Amino acid sequence: MRTSTVLSVLSAAALSLAIDAPETTNNLSASYFAVLPNRIDTDVRGTMTIASAPNGKGANIAFTLSGLPTEGGPFLYHIHDKAVPADGNCTGTGAHLDPYGRGETPPCDSTEKQTCQVGDLSGKYGTVNATGYSAAYTDKYLSLVPGTPAYFGNRSIVVHFANKTRITCANFTTIS
Ligand SMILES: *[C@@H]1O[C@H](CO)[C@@H](O)[C@H](O)[C@H]1NC(C)=O
Ligand SMILES: *[C@@H]1O[C@H](CO)[C@@H](O)[C@H](O)[C@H]1NC(C)=O
Ligand SMILES: *[C@@H]1O[C@H](CO)[C@@H](O)[C@H](O)[C@H]1NC(C)=O
Ligand SMILES: *[C@@H]1O[C@H](CO)[C@@H](O)[C@H](O)[C@H]1NC(C)=O
Ligand SMILES: *[C@@H]1O[C@H](CO)[C@@H](O)[C@H](O)[C@H]1NC(C)=O
Ligand SMILES: *[C@@H]1O[C@H](CO)[C@@H](O)[C@H](O)[C@H]1NC(C)=O
Repeated sequence: MRTSTVLSVLSAAALSLAIDAPETTNNLSASYFAVLPNRIDTDVRGTMTIASAPNGKGANIAFTLSGLPTEGGPFLYHIHDKAVPADGNCTGTGAHLDPYGRGETPPCDSTEKQTCQVGDLSGKYGTVNATGYSAAYTDKYLSLVPGTPAYFGNRSIVVHFANKTRITCANFTTIS
């Protein structure tokens, strides 16, 4: 076999080992909100709202950002595994929400969203390369049902520089 064929067979084998994210059925109506806090070390502010999508199929996400630096992008954002520590230290949010063990490599292919880390929202829906941003989309893989693998409601959103350094972060809280 030619090298290129061998490599494509190997990469197909590696991909087949990763477990695709199943589409979620959110059999409840719920809304969560995260507000990026006022911090002295950054001007970045913003909000993310995640709510049940119609017919319970996935989650509707609305995201706004302002005050991003003019350098250091394109910026990344993800749902992380842990909540933000009380002192606001974003390092404490741990890794990306990745309940199916997909890992960081290869990078998310946005045309195959089910193969990406569930929490890799900028991988799936695009990075941010402006000082202000807003986006709204439906993700099929996040869960609003507590106790399920892709549940995000007790976790956090983190905004990063292109070099992965964490700029700011916020807990999700439920909107009652
Ligand atoms: C909702 O779905 C979850 C699994 O996604 C299941 O564990 C739970 O029992 C369901 N609840 C209701 C009220 O159907
Ligand atoms: C990441 O990029 C930012 C913005 O350019 C910079 O301030 C920071 O020092 C960089 N971090 C590392 C670890 O290189
Ligand atoms: C946009 O991305 C380029 C690199 O792709 C970077 O040089 C530039 O600083 C980014 N702009 C902003 C506003 O982050
Ligand atoms: C985030 O939520 C956790 C768990 O409820 C809490 O312990 C922590 O203090 C919260 N972090 C901030 C910055 O409010
Ligand atoms: C933030 O937390 C990490 C461990 O999670 C720690 O190594 C680091 O020193 C902390 N940074 C600050 C500024 O407290
Ligand atoms: C969030 O809830 C899930 C159950 O849905 C649990 O497995 C996980 O440990 C919780 N994470 C945090 C940071 O509380």
